[in-house]
Amino acid sequence: MQVNQASFVLSALKPDDYPRDRRPEFAFVGRSNVGKSSLQNTLLRRKELARTSATPGKTQTINFFDINGTFYFVDLPGYGYAKVPKSMKDAWNKVMVAYLRGREPLRMVTALVDARHTPTAQDHHMLSILEEAEVPTLVVATKVDKLKRSQRARQLDHIRRDLDLGDDGLLIPFSSVTREGVQELWRVIEDLL
Ligand code: GTP
Ligand code: MG
Repeated sequence: MQVNQASFVLSALKPDDYPRDRRPEFAFVGRSNVGKSSLQNTLLRRKELARTSATPGKTQTINFFDINGTFYFVDLPGYGYAKVPKSMKDAWNKVMVAYLRGREPLRMVTALVDARHTPTAQDHHMLSILEEAEVPTLVVATKVDKLKRSQRARQLDHIRRDLDLGDDGLLIPFSSVTREGVQELWRVIEDLL
């Protein structure tokens, strides 16, 4: 994908505030700090378009980014950040579920998991929300640059099994550091455009 233009459009908390032009949307979900904003910046070759942070909980609203004037990237708030009060977690959860269920322009959700760890209960919960909402979902194992060569195959296999993706279920290894997985991810997005 040749990205000629990528720009922040708006932040939304409720459906009335989402863009109204019905262009295809590609959303990104995952635990706080898993690397959602980094992955989008890496795909777009923009350094800090989606704001990244070493402090979890940076992205708190649904952020829409216009790409080439033809589709949107949608950065969702990260879940599972322990230091946030429960009332705030519930509020974010509502914001996300409202978007994920019944958003007509939504073409695909990329669900990020940390390649180094067993998916959490919240990862499982998110995938079940997506399954229930019948949203096409692509699972990406990110930060693979942090895996040792010797662990890699076993760890990816472990994640595939833990998430019940099946033997030929697609799990794209990704790294914002080495750019591994960038082309594969774009290919999936392009197929849906
Ligand atoms: P929230 O907005 O809080 O939900 O976080 P996020 O999922 O958007 O994570 P973000 O992209 O801000 O990245 C969190 C931290 O992980 C940052 O310090 C990144 O530099 C780091 N990081 C992200 N992706 C990678 C990766 O592929 N490899 C390595 N080594 N570090 C990464
Ligand atoms: Mg973020």
